[in-house]
Amino acid sequence: MRTASFPEGFVWGVSTSAFQIEGATDQDGRGPSIWDTFAGGAYGDPACDHYRRYADDIRLMQDLGVAAYRFSVSWSRVLPEGHGRANGPGLDFYDRLVDELLRAGIAPYATLYHWDLPQALQDSGGWTSRDTARHFADYAGVVYDRIGDRVDTWFTFNEPQVAAFLGHASGVHAPGRRSAADAFVSAHHMLLAHGLGLEALRARGAARAGVVLNLSPVLTPAQLGDVSLDLPEEDAEAVARIDALHNRQFLEPVLRGRYPADLLPLVEKVAGLDHIHDGDLDVIGGPIDLLGVNYYTPIAVRAQPGAPADPAFPGSEGVLFCSVPTAVTAMGWPIMPSGLSLVLRRLSEEYPETDVMITENGADFVDVVAGDGVHDIERMSFLEEHLRALRASLDEGARVRGYLLWSLLDCVEWADGYRRKFGIVHVDFTTQRRLLKDSALWYRDVIRRNGLGAERPKRPTLETVAARAGVSRATVSRVVNGEASVSPEARAVVLRAVQELGYVPNAAARSLVTQRTDSVALVLSAPRNGGDALISAVVQYVTGVLEGAGKQITLMLADTAESHRRIIRHVEAGQVDGVVLVPPDGPDPLAERLARTGVPVVLLGRPAIASLVPYVDVDNTGGAKAATRHLLDRGRRRIGVICGPMDLVAVQDRLAGHLAALHEDGLRPAIALAGLDRQSGGAAARELLSGHPDLNAVFATSDELAISALEAAREAGLQVPRDLAIVGFDDVHAASCTTPPLTTVRVPAADQALALARLLLSRLDGRHTTSVVLPTRLVVRATT
Ligand code: FCB
Repeated sequence: MRTASFPEGFVWGVSTSAFQIEGATDQDGRGPSIWDTFAGGAYGDPACDHYRRYADDIRLMQDLGVAAYRFSVSWSRVLPEGHGRANGPGLDFYDRLVDELLRAGIAPYATLYHWDLPQALQDSGGWTSRDTARHFADYAGVVYDRIGDRVDTWFTFNEPQVAAFLGHASGVHAPGRRSAADAFVSAHHMLLAHGLGLEALRARGAARAGVVLNLSPVLTPAQLGDVSLDLPEEDAEAVARIDALHNRQFLEPVLRGRYPADLLPLVEKVAGLDHIHDGDLDVIGGPIDLLGVNYYTPIAVRAQPGAPADPAFPGSEGVLFCSVPTAVTAMGWPIMPSGLSLVLRRLSEEYPETDVMITENGADFVDVVAGDGVHDIERMSFLEEHLRALRASLDEGARVRGYLLWSLLDCVEWADGYRRKFGIVHVDFTTQRRLLKDSALWYRDVIRRNGLGAERPKRPTLETVAARAGVSRATVSRVVNGEASVSPEARAVVLRAVQELGYVPNAAARSLVTQRTDSVALVLSAPRNGGDALISAVVQYVTGVLEGAGKQITLMLADTAESHRRIIRHVEAGQVDGVVLVPPDGPDPLAERLARTGVPVVLLGRPAIASLVPYVDVDNTGGAKAATRHLLDRGRRRIGVICGPMDLVAVQDRLAGHLAALHEDGLRPAIALAGLDRQSGGAAARELLSGHPDLNAVFATSDELAISALEAAREAGLQVPRDLAIVGFDDVHAASCTTPPLTTVRVPAADQALALARLLLSRLDGRHTTSVVLPTRLVVRATT
């Protein structure tokens, strides 16, 4: 592999934001922000205690050799009420910060709004109020007047899409509102604030100003493999709609002074257009010098008639958000470095005059502090692959001026608090001790040579362990093979090195002669929809059949990112001949990653994305269709559905079956979304019954949800089945014990488990295999 060097003057840096690192939320006159309120004291202080330790943190950056540091200013530290009286000590902090950066030879890049609105402004309407945009412009001026003489690069906003839609539509971010209309109105006011803020900065002579957007390519699952693929009309429409909501809603106003024509009807439908005043778009479209791009992951969608809108994307009815068949970070975000190139290509094609800076890119992985370091090989690989993609985009002509890594420090990851680890510097939140991870050392090298090295980060080998432990390869080999002839001291040193480096001994080397280990891994993820009965059948039958065939079973739990890594290392190291995988609920990259090792893998359940890994499943679609048909045949015409989490393939299939049966009779669906548990089922059932008082039947995608519907019907004074018929799915034990006993769809657990074991055996024998789908059976009881 060749080294990849970057253009001269390319800016290497790091990014952070105020609420995520500063702490000191009640110090020196700072007012509360919406994130203090939202966090309710659970996180946010002390965070990284950066307010006090900023000089040490700057020393770290200097050590790494970064040329630029993008930080954000806390509005409520500067203006505790959001407007009016400025807080001297708050401004002093940014003054000191900037001076210290300049002393260290690091260019300060200031972001004015990274999501932490002063609570006082929220109390008077927050971003739904147009006044907030004016207050923002005044605030921009106050900050500029204090540090503008030393700060050359300004960003008005960070990711207005996230602040508007996660804050106001899905409500998972502060201020936690759930109103689609508020989200669109807030997005517009943020854009307006950007424009007014830009004017304020310009009037004062800002050298370089822009905005930071979170951009993602929007693709169908099929396009992830081949972006040039032509799409059926419905899918093309789904892709365009999500692209309008996610990307173009912000790109077009800022860079072209207009809203996309296909976006406006979506906005109008939920929020009207009165909040968009004449002249606003001229202000918003004022020229910028630099577009900040935050890139983490792509978005995969396809058309799915009848699918309800995703709460974070009002207007996305009929679009299914799909999982992506690739490795994910601990956040669950699919890793797709080429997605960065797609974003950059789009910018070059559509906005060729715009200079770009990558203002965030990075990854959350589970870190282990081992001795004196954190050997975060996955983060390094993530960064390296994204930099290679970026390098390729530069060759294509992308106008990228720099790369700011997210993030310098492990910090508060918004609603997830302290548990996410995006830093290249580890922070111990009890002692505030900082520790450079391997990725930080690697980044330092990248910066030093202004490019990537010839070698990619590698997995540890016997040699690495020997070098770390200061012993010979033979000694390492003896220890890992359990030989007794090694001194206890040497053994301890080797084992520590093995653990610290995450080394997995290579069993394949040991069984070179047989090429077989006669071991099979049974990998279980918990919890799983449909639950315990199926898992226990799998354990019982898979073990029985495979042991009967002379295999040893290794039971492995796949419940964390770390356990995924362990399992992959185990399989890669040739420790097993085959794998039976019971994947977790929701999107799961493990199957593909295991399959790539070349070891035969079989799966329980159809995977979310078409895959070559054979699976055993039950006919969920057919079962749901039969259940709905049964209701129709009993004369029920007004049927609601309580639908479990839509990221579960089984739930998608069951909903599809239900919709298909309704469609055949020309009926329209009434859908209420729930989770897996009875509480959310109860809420969904109540929503359904109050929203559609004329319903006379309910189909639930699981028995748990059907049981909660039974309870909700009872509370509402409805008699089952006279007033309301109910059908569930799964035939769990409890379904036969309800009053009245529940009509449901039986899935053959034991048959599935047996089929799974047989499928693996035929694969081990090298026979051609295809997936198996077993029929379900309707069990009619007294609720219908
Ligand atoms: C971005 C945010 C940043 C951080 C990363 C992981 O959306 O701008 O603050 O939370 O995600």
